[in-house]
Amino acid sequence: MANFIPEETIRTIENAADIIEIVSESVVLKKAGKNYVGLCPFHSEKTPSFTVNPDKQIFHCFGCGVGGNIFNFLMKQDGMSFPDAVRMLARRCGIEIPTPQMAPAQKRRISEKENLYALNRRIMEFYQHMLMKSTKGDKARKYLNRRGMTDRIIESFKLGYAPGSWDSLVKVFSKNKMPQTLIQKSGMIVTKENSNRTWDRFRDRIIFPIFNSSMQIIGFGGRVMDDSLPKYLNSPETPVYNKSRSLYGLHAARRPARVDKKIYIAEGYFDVLALHQHRIANAVATLGTSMTAEHVRILKGIIGKQGQVILVYDSDAAGIKAARRSIELFKKEYVDARIMVLPTGHDPDSYLLEFGSERFVELAGHALGIIPFLIDSAVKKHGLSIEGKIRIIADLLDTLAAIGDDVERSLYIKDLAERIGVDEVAIIEKVRKISKSEKNKLQVLEVHGKNGPVDKKSSGGKGIRLEKQIIAMLLQFPEIVPEIIKRNVIDHFEDKNLRSIGKMIILKNTAAGEKKISGSERNNSGRIADILSSISEPEIRSTVISLIIEDVDWDQSGCNKLLTQFENSCKRGDNDLLKEIRAAENNNDHALLLQLLKQKQIQARKKYLVKNTKVNHDKLVKSRI
Ligand code: UTP
Ligand code: MN
Repeated sequence: MANFIPEETIRTIENAADIIEIVSESVVLKKAGKNYVGLCPFHSEKTPSFTVNPDKQIFHCFGCGVGGNIFNFLMKQDGMSFPDAVRMLARRCGIEIPTPQMAPAQKRRISEKENLYALNRRIMEFYQHMLMKSTKGDKARKYLNRRGMTDRIIESFKLGYAPGSWDSLVKVFSKNKMPQTLIQKSGMIVTKENSNRTWDRFRDRIIFPIFNSSMQIIGFGGRVMDDSLPKYLNSPETPVYNKSRSLYGLHAARRPARVDKKIYIAEGYFDVLALHQHRIANAVATLGTSMTAEHVRILKGIIGKQGQVILVYDSDAAGIKAARRSIELFKKEYVDARIMVLPTGHDPDSYLLEFGSERFVELAGHALGIIPFLIDSAVKKHGLSIEGKIRIIADLLDTLAAIGDDVERSLYIKDLAERIGVDEVAIIEKVRKISKSEKNKLQVLEVHGKNGPVDKKSSGGKGIRLEKQIIAMLLQFPEIVPEIIKRNVIDHFEDKNLRSIGKMIILKNTAAGEKKISGSERNNSGRIADILSSISEPEIRSTVISLIIEDVDWDQSGCNKLLTQFENSCKRGDNDLLKEIRAAENNNDHALLLQLLKQKQIQARKKYLVKNTKVNHDKLVKSRI
């Protein structure tokens, strides 16, 4: 591809452009020594591992491994081809690209996008002219003024008017001898199937050009001025218009959103215009589609890690629906999203007209996070009668089960339990059942798969993963406790926290056993409540809750398999050391040998201690029984 543009020109462009400047347009960068770092726009992350080096003019993400030069960045970020990226930068730097050696066909293909942008701009200018300079546009101008749009907004958003006739645009095209195929690709005229008849897609409508961040026009929206339907029309997707990554108003919102670290997302064109009109310029709208992961990524790149997205809805019902749908999207990208619901019957446009921007911003300040919003809505909807509480929990189960972060989930469960006065463990049990029915199949496969127990989510090595599963088993299958004690499993745990959790569960169990003997009946919920109540550390607490929730159906043979696997992995650890010692001996590497022998000694001492505590523990248990 590079042969379209001379290598020399490419180098000139690369030298003239600044990678920091380009990347900064979509990623918030902070200086860190020689480099700049930020959140990677190409994968989800909480802590910045995306690094840009201004000296070498390259970027690299230590999280997902992508990297390259300024062209690679643009190609990946905006989905451009290499020549497109080169051309785009050339334009920005005012460097001319010699084109004579291009074959006509190649030239056409490469410049198709550029031609579409140019065509869209001419269409925009035509409609703008109709609105502002033609008597045909009188009605539309009046309509816009009646809706409170000033000339400043009309000009800066390049609003227009599509006249009522069937062929205004068709005529413009034929007068200018535009290539038919390009016109077809723009989606702005419609051709009847099996005929040559064409007509304008937009007739007698207010026109909203849609811009990308480089101020190129990618598509159009159009609204009627009366009650006819459809109220809005949108141009179809084209090689330059991808709805799932476009947001209306982003070209104007980018800068203020970056400064404020906050962006409003409304539902409609007029809402964005009204917000801008009221000097709330950090506002965009999705274009007749729901939010996508790509939208969220783009927004995160602008507002940064600490930023906030405020979704503005015109009713509780719309808010709840959108909130449910977008939880995962925002959670996955670690974006703080809030839901702002306007009083009944209002959208941002009408609210601002009636109450002004100060009240709007104040209301936004009280916007709740997605999950608190859903909890709040459920409580409001169902009330706190017994039936109400049952419905509230039923409404929220899926939401709670979907929270990926253990700490977060346990905090929200606790919060809900306290708020509606229901036992926390009862909610945990219900969430567990939901997660179980959804994930069980997968989990069983993972747990008993040929690679042995796997838990993708938990961090730490394979050893830790096994330890977590043993704890999960202890929590869910108390029948295994005697076996665990007999095999002295817990003392071999590598992870300190898991070891203490394990010991505690065993202790609770033996205590429970005593009580049982003395006549008091205990079910598993009671046992788990008891275990939870004795953990105060929130991190450990949430680990335990997550292990309760993400359980598998344990039975005796599954348990035994897991225990054997754990024991084998412990032995393997010992064997590895023995092998290394032998190798060091063979190589006469005395320094290494000394070191390894020391290690072995430490291990032996540990084993001795473990054995002794086991004996003590056995004594303890025996003396209790
Ligand atoms: P609304 O009907 O809420 O429009 O649709 P609005 O922005 O408040 O418009 P006004 O105030 O009545 O002029 C919200 C958004 O949904 C899309 C448009 O993007 C619109 O802005 N929409 C709506 C369509 O794509 N087609 C439609 O027929 C209606
Ligand atoms: Mn409206």
